[in-house]
Amino acid sequence: MPDSSLAATVEARLFQPLTVRGVTFKNRIVIAPMCQYSAEDGLATDWHFAHHSGFAIGGAACIFFEAAAVEPRGRISYGDLGIWSDAHRDALKPIIRFIKDQGAAPAIQIAHAGRKASIQRPWDGNGPMDGSDASRGELPWEVVAPSSVPTADGWLMPAELTPAEMAEIKSRFVDAARRSHEAGFEVLEVHGAHGYLLHSFLSPISNFRTDDFGGDRVNRMRFPLEVAAAVREAWPADKPLFYRISSTDSVEEGGWQLEDSVAFAHELKARGIDVVDCSSGGIGGSATALRIPREPGFQVPFAEAIRRDADIATMAVGLILTPKQAEAILEAGQADLIAIAREALYDPFWPRHAAYALDADPGFEDWPDQYGWWLARREKGLVRPD
Ligand SMILES: Cc1cc2nc3c(=O)[nH]c(=O)nc-3n(C[C@H](O)[C@H](O)[C@H](O)COP(=O)(O)O)c2cc1C
Repeated sequence: MPDSSLAATVEARLFQPLTVRGVTFKNRIVIAPMCQYSAEDGLATDWHFAHHSGFAIGGAACIFFEAAAVEPRGRISYGDLGIWSDAHRDALKPIIRFIKDQGAAPAIQIAHAGRKASIQRPWDGNGPMDGSDASRGELPWEVVAPSSVPTADGWLMPAELTPAEMAEIKSRFVDAARRSHEAGFEVLEVHGAHGYLLHSFLSPISNFRTDDFGGDRVNRMRFPLEVAAAVREAWPADKPLFYRISSTDSVEEGGWQLEDSVAFAHELKARGIDVVDCSSGGIGGSATALRIPREPGFQVPFAEAIRRDADIATMAVGLILTPKQAEAILEAGQADLIAIAREALYDPFWPRHAAYALDADPGFEDWPDQYGWWLARREKGLVRPD
């Protein structure tokens, strides 16, 4: 029998389940996608197993795999994960199995880096590839975009995509969705943010096309919405589909704005997207000076506005650091889910520690037995030194 003195007393919103289509999230905490730059030819490695297993033991309801490229040239760097072949799919299966065994929902973000592809791993320079990369046998590859405009001075000049090539990329997203399902993922997210291919179609900073895919907002939204609709069709009806946006370009002047995101979210909802994951920025170039101060929760107002004005579930992300802060976001109705990234690197057990702090699991009952059995017994007689 659990010790009643250690039973949960507070119904923390952070620990209320949420059902989206056929998937029930055991709480509201999601580990955001985080590139590990540790894949080999796009294949998951032991590092990915250890990285995701920590989060699964750590109690998050949903654990995202990093941006997985739908085709090789859609990788940001040589270290990115891919999902462009059955071998890539199969390498993910043991990790997915472990995550499910811990009661969490495995999720994957499918991506194409567009004109921001072919750069160095962060610790190799974090910029366009140069001679030091060539000495490792890593040569730049051709990058593609809506228009032949580079991200910034010194970055690769992208080739402008033809409509036929765009249709090809759309079918790569569809293949990636199918493989993600076959691998056992329960949640899928289309990466439409941070200046990568789909965002670069939306933004007037990177899209100068004169055909049906450029010009006014309706035209700039056309290709991302076509991809969203095609992925929704390929992804099972009982599984949730998320879409990550850059809610604003966060540039000094012009660019994609929050009101554009509200309009886009309406269209995503009409195409069966369940959750809009509200990030911002990344379009690149000299116009990236930040208008938005990077204070805790700086992107939460975007999740709030989109949730309210487009009437769609949102996920808040960005410098969400403490359980109280997360709880307050949910309490104020600003978002339905809370995504954490770097704070989960600092503390992969953040959700379990949050449950303790919010009195949702004071008795360690929700922990895996391998850990919880010991911690519950230790707790009874524990006097912590100052
Ligand atoms: C190491 C690292 C890798 C990231 N990789 C991705 C990615 O693959 N896809 C993505 O949409 N965002 C990526 N991000 C952004 C995070 O998902 C998140 O939006 C951002 O870090 C802000 O949240 P935080 O303040 O909790 O870290 C990455 C962030 C970090 C720190």
